[in-house]
Amino acid sequence: MIPIAQPLIKEEEIQEVVKVLKSGFIAQGPKVAEFEEKFAEYIGTEHAIATSSGTTALHLSLLVLDIQPGDEIITTPFTFAATSNAALFEGAKPVFVDIDPKTYNLDPERIQEAITSKTKAIMPVHLFGQSAEMDTIQEIADNNHLPIIEDAAQAHGATYHGKKIGSLGDMAAFSFYPTKNMTTSEGGMITTDNSEFAEKAKILRAHGEKERYNHVILGYNFRMTDIAAAIGLVQLKRLDGFNQKRIENAEYLTEHIKEIEGIKPPYIKPELVHVFHQYTIQVDPNLRDEWIKLINEQGVGTGIHYPKAIYQQELYRNLGFDAKCIEAEKAAKKVISLPVHPQLKVEDLEKIVQSLDYASNYLY
Ligand SMILES: Cc1ncc(COP(=O)(O)O)c(C=O)c1O
Repeated sequence: MIPIAQPLIKEEEIQEVVKVLKSGFIAQGPKVAEFEEKFAEYIGTEHAIATSSGTTALHLSLLVLDIQPGDEIITTPFTFAATSNAALFEGAKPVFVDIDPKTYNLDPERIQEAITSKTKAIMPVHLFGQSAEMDTIQEIADNNHLPIIEDAAQAHGATYHGKKIGSLGDMAAFSFYPTKNMTTSEGGMITTDNSEFAEKAKILRAHGEKERYNHVILGYNFRMTDIAAAIGLVQLKRLDGFNQKRIENAEYLTEHIKEIEGIKPPYIKPELVHVFHQYTIQVDPNLRDEWIKLINEQGVGTGIHYPKAIYQQELYRNLGFDAKCIEAEKAAKKVISLPVHPQLKVEDLEKIVQSLDYASNYLY
C-alpha cells in the first residue's frame, strides 16, 4: 500500500542524533538554540521559540496573549482538533467561522460578524499547505485591534504574495509531527517579530522561570529536546526540496486526474505557493466510502481530512457547541486525501492515477 504520509529520514539525521546523544546535552540545549535561529531566518522573523509539539506552540501563543476563561478566539471548524483545543485549554471559547469551500480556509467575509466584545484573537489555519486569505484577515484584525495567531502546522515554506507563512500574523505555530512537510519526531515552533512575546513564551515554556529556580509566573514544560532539534536542523535544509517534490507530485496528479469523471482536484489560489501538506480531492459524498474502498483495493492509501467539522466532535457536542458552518460540514463529507509526499516515485504516481481511473470506471 502506498502510504498517505511517510517521513524521510536519512543517514545525516541519524548521525546528528547520535552526536547529540553522545554529547550529554539531550534535553533543551545548544541544538535547540541553533534550530530556533535557523528557523527564524528561514521564515523571516526576528524570533523563533521551539516547543515540544505544534499543540504546545498553539497553547503557548494563547498563554502569551494572556487568554482568560470566557474569552473568544475566532477560528475555523475545518482543521485538526488541536487548533481549537488550544482555546479550550485556557477555558476560552473557540468561535467557529465557516470556510471558503474552494480553499477550505477561513472565509474572511464571515469573520467581522463573529467578532464580539469578548473576542481576543483570530486564529486562521493555512490548511493543507495553502495560505489563508491574510490581507483581508489582517485588515479585520487591525480594524478590531485583535492579534492574529497563524496555525502554520501544515504550511512550512508556503508563501502568501511572496511572504512566508509564519511571518504574517503576530505569532505563528508550526508542528513538526512526522507527517508534516518537515519533522523533528514530535516538536513545534512559534515564530514572531515581537520581542516581548518571544521573551514571555520562553519563560512560560520553562516553568515560568526568569532564571533557574526563579519562578515569576505559572509556567509549563513545553520544551523541545536537542535530539529533536538535531533532526529539525537537517530537515530544514531539505525543506525546500521536499516542498518542490510535493508541488511536482501535486501537479502530476492534477494533470492526470482532472479529466477523470467524478473527481474535483484541489484548487490553488493564484500568487500563492501551496506546499501540499495534503493533496485533497472532492467526490460525490454519497459515493465517498466506495471511492475509498476501490482506491485502497488498488494499493493506494487515503485519508479523510477531516471527517467532521470540529464542533461536531463528541468533545465539542458535550461542551454544548452548536455552530452551523454549512461549507465545512459539506466539505467534511466529500474530501479524500491522496499520497503526495516526497518519497513517491513515478510508478507510485502512475499507480495513484490508475486507482482513481479504476474507481471512476467502476462507479460511473
Ligand atoms: C492544523 C494543525 N494544527 C495543530 C496541529 C498540532 O500539531 P502537533 O501534532 O505537533 O501537536 C496539527 C497537527 O497535528 C495540525 O495539523
